[in-house]
Amino acid sequence: MDNFTGQHILSVNQFDRVAVETVFDVADKMQPYANREKRTTVLEGAILGNLFFESSTRTRVSFGTAFNLLGGEVRETTGISSSALAKGESLYDTARVLSGYSDVITMRHPDAGSVAEFSEGSRVPVLNGGDGPNEHPTQALLDLYTIAKERASFGESIDNLHIAMIGDLKYGRTVHSLATMLCLFKNIKLTLISPNELQMPVSICDAITNAGHELIISDQLEGSVEADICYQTRIQQERFSSLQEADKYRGKFRLNQQIYTQHFKSKTVIMHPLPRDSRADANELDNDLNMHPNLAIFRQTDNGVLVRMALFALVLGVAEKISDFDRPVHWYSTKNTANN
Ligand code: NCD
Repeated sequence: MDNFTGQHILSVNQFDRVAVETVFDVADKMQPYANREKRTTVLEGAILGNLFFESSTRTRVSFGTAFNLLGGEVRETTGISSSALAKGESLYDTARVLSGYSDVITMRHPDAGSVAEFSEGSRVPVLNGGDGPNEHPTQALLDLYTIAKERASFGESIDNLHIAMIGDLKYGRTVHSLATMLCLFKNIKLTLISPNELQMPVSICDAITNAGHELIISDQLEGSVEADICYQTRIQQERFSSLQEADKYRGKFRLNQQIYTQHFKSKTVIMHPLPRDSRADANELDNDLNMHPNLAIFRQTDNGVLVRMALFALVLGVAEKISDFDRPVHWYSTKNTANN
């Protein structure tokens, strides 16, 4: 992808390494706005249609926040039952209609391929906020951005890293998109740890080995993993045929202080796309790691705003104009260093 302006963002497969780096460069420029050191009105008058037909907290709110931080307005629909899709309207018709009301659309839907289908009826760019178990491209970008930032503090880049992904790798769209995007980088070692029934899809494993990366597949967290990144995930209970089916796997791979120290290096960065399932029978990422300096989960969520701001700016063709519309922040903010 050479030029983002007017493009849909549906899949990580649209990106080459230069496109990823372009997103990262623009995301870096968004930091002062996210920190409330200044604000911009570059998208004043623009409308985001934020359509979430599947449950979400951070993806939905961070898309909206990112758009607001650029000066735009957000219109939202949540849930299939409260939308015309429940009356039998096609994705194409919904897209035709809602794209008339918006300048850009973000969408999440429980079916694989649904966001791409929707985009065919849309007259404005559509960003995929997760289509069932398939893809979550904006999450992959914010995860990679976080990996780059976290490892930069150890003098490393994404190339040559060892990344462990743990948990539900079959239904987890974040790991599908992240693993695929890692194919753009060099000399990656990927350790995939999951129950045998919840392994990473073969097509993605093939893409990883075809990229020349080293792939290790295991159904146990054992010995010293030596990974630079430990990417923990939730059992995607909503994708199983029944809750009892999901219960079989819940709590199989937990991470807490003791398990972390036993299996990982002192410099291993801990990530999770969130939400973490904190119920006692799951507890895949224990609260006893909350103050651990290598726990990057909340830096990940903050980075999500920067990356989504960057994508909006690029898709709407204003990435070079952001600072032309700078304004001061005139309210008290705990975020900006002037008030800290
Ligand atoms: C993830 C998702 O929805 O795929 N959450 C997110 O977007 N940050 C992961 C999950 O729900 O487990």
